[in-house]
Amino acid sequence: MFRSAILLTFALGLVASGTPVANEPAVTSGIRIALPKRNSLKNEDGTFNYEKAVRETVKLKNKHRQNLINIATNLGYDALPKGAEIKPAAKLPKSLEKRGAVKLTDQAQEIEWTGPVEIGTPQQSFTIDFDTGSADLWVPSSSCSSCQGHKAYNPSLSSTSSKRSGSFNITYGDGSNVSGTPYTDNVHIGGVDIKNQFFAAVTMESSAFVQDPADGLCGLGLRNLSYLSEDPPFITAVKQGAVREGIFSFKLAEVGSELCFGGRNRQLYKGEIEEHGLVSSVGYWQIGGASVKLNGKAVVSGFDTIVDSGTSLIVTPTAQGAAFWNQVQGAELFDEDVGLYSFPCDSPPEVAFSWGGKDWSINATDLNLGETAQGTGQCVGAIQALDIGLGDSVWITGDTFMKNVYTIFSVDCNSVGFAELA
Ligand SMILES: *[C@@H]1O[C@H](CO)[C@@H](O)[C@H](O)[C@H]1NC(C)=O
Ligand SMILES: *[C@@H]1O[C@H](CO)[C@@H](O)[C@H](O)[C@H]1NC(C)=O
Ligand SMILES: *[C@@H]1O[C@H](CO)[C@@H](O)[C@H](O)[C@H]1NC(C)=O
Ligand SMILES: *[C@@H]1O[C@H](CO)[C@@H](O)[C@H](O)[C@H]1NC(C)=O
Repeated sequence: MFRSAILLTFALGLVASGTPVANEPAVTSGIRIALPKRNSLKNEDGTFNYEKAVRETVKLKNKHRQNLINIATNLGYDALPKGAEIKPAAKLPKSLEKRGAVKLTDQAQEIEWTGPVEIGTPQQSFTIDFDTGSADLWVPSSSCSSCQGHKAYNPSLSSTSSKRSGSFNITYGDGSNVSGTPYTDNVHIGGVDIKNQFFAAVTMESSAFVQDPADGLCGLGLRNLSYLSEDPPFITAVKQGAVREGIFSFKLAEVGSELCFGGRNRQLYKGEIEEHGLVSSVGYWQIGGASVKLNGKAVVSGFDTIVDSGTSLIVTPTAQGAAFWNQVQGAELFDEDVGLYSFPCDSPPEVAFSWGGKDWSINATDLNLGETAQGTGQCVGAIQALDIGLGDSVWITGDTFMKNVYTIFSVDCNSVGFAELA
């Protein structure tokens, strides 16, 4: 569904103008959280890091598998999208599993957007991965022996901590289980105070987390996606009136990445916001009527997209991804297991997405994951053709797309909006 920018600005109660108005503060509302740079799937020599892509793919599959389980638990199996399928948990190939436990990847090599979150009274600080594609907050627990190298939440040191019934037990990362205990406590995100927020303190982590620069994860998806079946932090903040507007906004870039919690930062975008209403109530930031264009011509149309900051690439059902790459001059299947294709490095395809409004182009730099191997002249493309069970015609527009726009997620309007980066 495409609504005009005028309608949007009306709905948000803003002045219908693309440029900041005198007296209007640069940050209309909300608190800015700087997100340190997150890097690519490239090796230092510019070639594609296959091992890292395999790890990311396992994580991707298990995250969305868990989401489907959560939706089925919260809303019943009938609520799952057409063609959706809860597949067996994905696991790392044995060859990577062994190395996984010991190898530490430095933060610059990682692929997450992290920022600070504090929990408890007095506050205990964590570095958290902000993920619009899931809906629970979790951090390591001080009683976790497998959570080495990460900050841990100690409930006995917080006067506002309260243990809750039930358990938290998800398959994530490399395919092993992560389990923990639900708590409520006060949570502080970028200066926004949230009282009695549900979250999980994880008492058993998989080896995938040991190497993760983030201590934990903050889901910014909607409640129907939540394992805990409780409001995720941003929703609680809105209900408690802790933020002035029920919106949060992302700029994801190599430098200057920022999450604006409770508003949007006018210095980071220009022009009007193109807003799209959510087409699903399962808790994803899912919008419809998308098409992908190649050199200005639509090659696949009529699909939904989930806007997910916690997915690195653009992910499409296998057949639709193949249909796209088949239209790209010189494209070749690079690896079937991870659903990646390559294209001639010196003539990258011009790719854009449209939801019935503007064409939102993807910079060729973002599309290029590196040369397949040194000197081949073929580069791996960031559009991954891989069925992960989300449904017949559901794509994920992850960071590869999000790096090219300013994205505004609105709980107030049940919508996702895009604006041009300033
Ligand atoms: C986690 O879930 C699995 C499968 O549902 C179950 O077999 C296992 O006992 C659970 N583990 C914990 C620690 O709750
Ligand atoms: C999760 O834990 C359960 C029970 O301990 C086990 O049966 C299952 O195989 C585990 N899942 C994975 C993917 O390791
Ligand atoms: C969650 O699911 C229920 C049942 O389908 C629906 O009524 C509700 O609107 C959904 N919530 C959101 C925020 O979409
Ligand atoms: C694409 O990205 C590169 C590297 O970030 C940048 O130098 C270039 O100006 C961008 N191109 C466009 C058309 O925005």
